[in-house]
Amino acid sequence: MAIADLLDTIGDTPLLRIPKLGRPGEGEVLLKYERYNPGGSVKDRPAKYIVEEAERAGLLQPGGTIIESSSGNFGISLAMIGAAKGYRVVILADPKTTAANLAVLQAFGAEVIVVTEKDDCGSYHKTRIAAANKLAEELPGAYRPDQCFNLLNSEAHHGTTAREIVEGCPPGLGAFVTAVSTGGQLGGISRYLKRHAPGVRIAGVDAVGSAIFGGPSAGYRIPGIGLGWTPTNIDVELVDEAYKIPDEQAFVAARTLARREGILVGPSSGACLVAALHLAQRMRPGEYVVCMVADGGERYLQTLFDEDWMRDQGFALEAEPERIRTWASELRPWSTQSAEMANYRHELTEELAVPASTLRQNDELLGRMRRERLG
Ligand SMILES: Cc1ncc(COP(=O)(O)O)c(C=O)c1O
Repeated sequence: MAIADLLDTIGDTPLLRIPKLGRPGEGEVLLKYERYNPGGSVKDRPAKYIVEEAERAGLLQPGGTIIESSSGNFGISLAMIGAAKGYRVVILADPKTTAANLAVLQAFGAEVIVVTEKDDCGSYHKTRIAAANKLAEELPGAYRPDQCFNLLNSEAHHGTTAREIVEGCPPGLGAFVTAVSTGGQLGGISRYLKRHAPGVRIAGVDAVGSAIFGGPSAGYRIPGIGLGWTPTNIDVELVDEAYKIPDEQAFVAARTLARREGILVGPSSGACLVAALHLAQRMRPGEYVVCMVADGGERYLQTLFDEDWMRDQGFALEAEPERIRTWASELRPWSTQSAEMANYRHELTEELAVPASTLRQNDELLGRMRRERLG
């Protein structure tokens, strides 16, 4: 592609091998490296799709304002798209949003409001979402993409990321692994794979302390991952197993990928890597585990790649590939029972005042999916 419009360069990311961390005699992990999107992360995909669907539906008009709750990648993608298309963008962030992310948001001209009140899960998700919905209600011409409750988030991955995985992976795709927060990736890609590659095992990766697949909520350090409940973008029936990765393993595995494979990734991808290696160790040569890498490492230079910061957390600075492989082999699924994993909180749409237009759009989409399943 020699000459292109910026937003047409979203997608078609490569699948990268990791020869230093794999071993002959087992399955092979391939990393779906989403850093190559122009906004630097996987979130460019749902951001573009949701904004363009809103334009088509007349929910977002010229001169309009995009209002979203995000502490990182989705906000940056919207800020980039807003700049390219000429919309005002307001991002509700929180005190965990890094200085690097705030700087990128501001570079694209987005306005940032930092929400400081924690919710009853000990994070800022609910207070940020409620504040964004309230602001959108008050501001004429506002549109709420709402990555957490809008099913178009997973639909974006169903139509692009999932198809690329099936088309790009050599014959022998055996498992798919992704980190989870809003469930856009896991929800959309699992739905596609269950239909188009039915034997593939689907694994979701969460943080120890997050409650997407049940269990108690507690603080954790991995950014971009986790939530206090199961997001509606996920159908837990389509998830074969869920893993919860401790903070230190996620950070150290990401640093090992940088040092040993030359691949710069963020901590959520370090967490995914441990689960992906675990699955590959149980597979035969010629079988593949596709592992999502949601973003690159530059966003974490002041944390993950800062030795003082790592020491302050009590984390090791580096581990040999063999150590990462041992963590992987000792990993056990948090759950393999879909019924046990479900932690939906349907009352939240009312509690957080999710816009009626989002709920109407979701109903239409669910109707279409049901008809597709029957057809
Ligand atoms: C770095 C990173 N990894 C993983 C995820 C989880 O992706 P999803 O929201 O599609 O579940 C996110 C989402 O914000 C993220 O920013």
